[in-house]
Amino acid sequence: MTDTPPAASVEKFRDWRFGLFVHWGLYSLPARHEWVKNRERLTDEDYQPYFDHFEPDLYDPRAWARAAREAGMRYAVLTTKHHEGFCLWDSEVSDYTVAKTAWGKDLVGPFVEACRAEGLGVGFYHSLIDWHHPEFPIDVVHPQRDDEEAKAKAAGRDIAVYADYLHAQTRELLTNYGPIDIMWFDFSYPNHNYPDGSPGHGKGRDDWRSEELMAMVRELQPDILINDRLDIPGDFVTPEQYQPDSPMQRDGVPVLWEACQTLNGSWGYDRDNLDWKSPELLVKMLVDSVSKDGNLLLNVGPTGRGEFDPRALATLASIGEWMRLHERSIRGARPAEYTAPADCRFTQKGDRLYLHLFSWPMGHIHLHGLAGKVKYAQLLNDASEIKRIVNDPHQQAQNTTMGGVSSETLTLKLPIQKPNVLVPVIELFLS
Ligand code: GLC
Repeated sequence: MTDTPPAASVEKFRDWRFGLFVHWGLYSLPARHEWVKNRERLTDEDYQPYFDHFEPDLYDPRAWARAAREAGMRYAVLTTKHHEGFCLWDSEVSDYTVAKTAWGKDLVGPFVEACRAEGLGVGFYHSLIDWHHPEFPIDVVHPQRDDEEAKAKAAGRDIAVYADYLHAQTRELLTNYGPIDIMWFDFSYPNHNYPDGSPGHGKGRDDWRSEELMAMVRELQPDILINDRLDIPGDFVTPEQYQPDSPMQRDGVPVLWEACQTLNGSWGYDRDNLDWKSPELLVKMLVDSVSKDGNLLLNVGPTGRGEFDPRALATLASIGEWMRLHERSIRGARPAEYTAPADCRFTQKGDRLYLHLFSWPMGHIHLHGLAGKVKYAQLLNDASEIKRIVNDPHQQAQNTTMGGVSSETLTLKLPIQKPNVLVPVIELFLS
C-alpha cells in the first residue's frame, strides 16, 4: 500500500476542473443553513420533526447529474452524512438513517448510479463531526455546548466508540457502491476553544484515528483521492469560501487543490437567503481557480423534496451556456507560463493560450513578453479573428505613439463592444 494516490487519479481530477457539491440532509427542511442545529442550539428532540417529515418525493438524481453535466461539471460530491449525523444510506450501524424515515429508501445508491450514467466522477462527503451520535462528546462546536445539564449527563461519552462507528460507516460507503473517486472528510478542529479561552475539547487525528482511517480508505479504494481535513495531509487541499491568491502549496511545494464554494453562502438549502452570487462572478471564480491549477467544487443545496430550486438551476444554466462556448479554455487546462495583464487570467493547453478578460478594456490589450510568439488570435465564443499589432518604438496610435509598451509587447486590437458572454476569452495560437 502506498501513501499517495495513483498519478492517473490526480490527472483525471485536474482535467475535470469543475464539480458539483451537494449538501442535502434533514437541515434542508428548516431551510435555514446546514448548521441550524448548532446555531439555534437545537436538541435532538427539537430536531426530530425534520426526521419525521423527511419525504423527498421529487428526488431525481438523474436530473441533478444532468444539470451538473450541462453546467460543464464533470464530478459530483454528495454529503452522505453532515454534522447533524443523519445518514443518507441504510447504514448497518445506525438507526438515524433515511431507511428508518417514512421515506425508507437509500439515497446514495441512486445518486452514484445517476452520476455514472451521466459520465460524472463520484465523491462522498462524510462528516467527522456528529451532533447526534450518543458517544460524540459535547464540545465547543456541539449544539449543546452551553447546556450545563446536558454536558454533565454527557460526561462519560467515549470518542473511541464514536471513532469505531466512523470507521465502520466509511467502510460501508466504500464497499457498497463500487468505485468512488473522492473521499471528502469534514472536519478537524483540534485547537478550538471557548471564547473565554477555556478548553473546547476540539477534535483531530487522535480522535478520528486518521492514519488508520486513511489506510482503510486506500485499501478499499486504491484509486481514490482523499481530502485534507483529517488533520493529516491528504491528496488535495480544500480552500473554503475564498479564492487563493496564487497556486496552493504545502510546505512550499505545489499541491493539488479544489476551492469549494457556495451559491449564496449557505451549503444547505436556505430559502430566505438573498446573497446569491451572479453567474458572472461564479464563472470568474472557475477561471481564477483553473488559472492557478485548481478545481472549483460548486455547491447546490437541494430542497427537502429533493429538487434543485429554480434559482440554482438558472445559475447552473447560465454557467453552462458559458461553458458550452468556452469549455476548451477550462477542461484539461493548466496555468500558463506567461503573466496575465491586469484584470485577466491565462490558462493554457499545449500551444493554445487562453486570455480571459474580467473587465473589457477600450480598444487594445497589451500582452508583455508575447511579441513574436502568437501566430493567430480569435475570440473563443465565435471564432472571430482578433488582429495583432506588434509594438515597436514607432508604433502609431492615431497621430501619437503608444505609451507603456515595448518591442516585447504584443498588442491585440479589440472591438469596442464586449462580446455578449459572461467572461470573454481570446484564444491565442502560440507559434
Ligand atoms: C465546513 C462546514 C460545512 C460545509 C463544509 C464544506 O467545514 O462545517 O457546513 O459542509 O465546510 O466545505
